[in-house]
Amino acid sequence: MAETDAKRIVLTGASGGIGQACLEAFVRRGCKVIAVDMNIEPLEELWRKRGWGEAVQVVRTDLRLESDINELAQSIGKTWDSVDVLVNNAGIVKRTHTNDTSLEEWNEVLAVNLTGTFLITKALYPFLRRSKRGRIVNLSSRAAGRPHLNASPAYGATKAALIYLTRHWAAEWVKEGIYCFAIAPGPVRTPMFDSLDPIQREKTIRDLPLGRLVEPEEVASLVLYAALDCPEVMTGQTFHCNGATYWT
Ligand SMILES: NC(=O)c1ccc[n+]([C@@H]2O[C@H](COP(=O)([O-])OP(=O)(O)OC[C@H]3O[C@@H](n4cnc5c(N)ncnc54)[C@H](O)[C@@H]3O)[C@@H](O)[C@H]2O)c1
Repeated sequence: MAETDAKRIVLTGASGGIGQACLEAFVRRGCKVIAVDMNIEPLEELWRKRGWGEAVQVVRTDLRLESDINELAQSIGKTWDSVDVLVNNAGIVKRTHTNDTSLEEWNEVLAVNLTGTFLITKALYPFLRRSKRGRIVNLSSRAAGRPHLNASPAYGATKAALIYLTRHWAAEWVKEGIYCFAIAPGPVRTPMFDSLDPIQREKTIRDLPLGRLVEPEEVASLVLYAALDCPEVMTGQTFHCNGATYWT
């Protein structure tokens, strides 16, 4: 077994397309995972099907609610004294343009993608610090740098903000042994992509030079690289995976 095995992972958005691919990959590496989502039924089914037992704990948490996040931190504290990796993967998108985005829709995207990430990272910071080599991985998007006109402007704004937070936390916590990375995928074959209408889906795929979507397992392999394998000196980096459509 590699030195990185048996790490303690907290993974948000674990029910979703990228979340489930990450969960499977972490378990294959021998990690223990707290799998967090507001919609845990698909996760409970997967947990039973795979017979994961104590390797995976499924916890229902709505990242829009600070009280839920504090409860999650308290329940983690009952079994674990430290967390090695926090993967901030949960996210939502709204399919609106600027002029038809209501304040409510704007605020909801910020609440999940940005404020939820801030609150859970703050709540788990003491656990990451006690790990001595804690890592945070934030799921950003190609939309952070390349306007995504099939999504509300709030989506790209939050994904750009996550790249800022990645650099901020990398700089703020490097001396405490906490390292921070972002992953910025192009369109990935998940339920989020399926929320586009069929015409937009087809056009998006047609416009991709690679000729296909990114697979969730490809994103998961980068998440694991950032979470377990890449050198600490890379802290603050964003890893892009978009099939030759955007670079920084
Ligand atoms: N699919 C893509 O094309 C794509 C591209 C770039 C980046 N991303 C990012 O990757 C991440 C995962 O996306 P995905 O494609 O797997 O999406 P998905 O819709 O399949 O999964 C997202 C998960 O987040 C959970 N979630 C939503 N709101 C929540 C809340 N308030 N509290 C807790 N959990 C909540 C959902 O229940 C769902 O399980 C997201 O941050 C997304 O922005 C996706």
